[in-house]
Amino acid sequence: MKKRLLLAGFALALGAGHTLTAFSQVKPEILVKQRQAAMTLQGKYMGPLGGMAQGKVPYNAETVAFNAAMLDALSRMPWDGFAPASKGATVKTAALPAIWDEPAKFKEAQDNFQRAVQGLVAVSRGGDEAAQKTAIGGVGKACGACHEHFREKQ
Ligand code: HEC
Repeated sequence: MKKRLLLAGFALALGAGHTLTAFSQVKPEILVKQRQAAMTLQGKYMGPLGGMAQGKVPYNAETVAFNAAMLDALSRMPWDGFAPASKGATVKTAALPAIWDEPAKFKEAQDNFQRAVQGLVAVSRGGDEAAQKTAIGGVGKACGACHEHFREKQ
């Protein structure tokens, strides 16, 4: 039993080490491109929802459910792309130094955003249009709050 536990621990340690090594070999430029790609896709799925919440796009319950599910996955993707190793990237980036100067605040902005997306997912299959629009507003605010502090003004 003890031996098995030890072995499991060893396998875990090996696994973690391997991930770290693989990760540190990714070029800074690639990290920047990948995080921007995840952000671009968030924009793709958030755009129509924002339009619905503002009454500019006709409400469609299926689109809300589908796009919420896409955002659920995407909202987990950009963050490891902001690893300190990406700071030396020579490609164009709008990421502000505050990301690395205030890591706790940046993490908080991610957590608030992911909570807002979870809130949207929770109401996205209920068919309650008003609740969905409120939740969409919450997600939009969380995108904006982070951009305000951590992204260069466009
Ligand atoms: C926790 C912070 C944070 C949250 C939350 C966040 N963003 Fe971003 N976003 C950034 C940062 C930082 C950049 C700049 C990345 C870069 O240029 O390296 C960015 C860039 C972008 C870009 C430009 C991508 C490109 O190709 O340059 C778009 C579009 C975008 N975000 C959309 C969104 C949308 C839509 C949401 C919400 C659904 C969102 N973001 C949530 C921090 C955030």
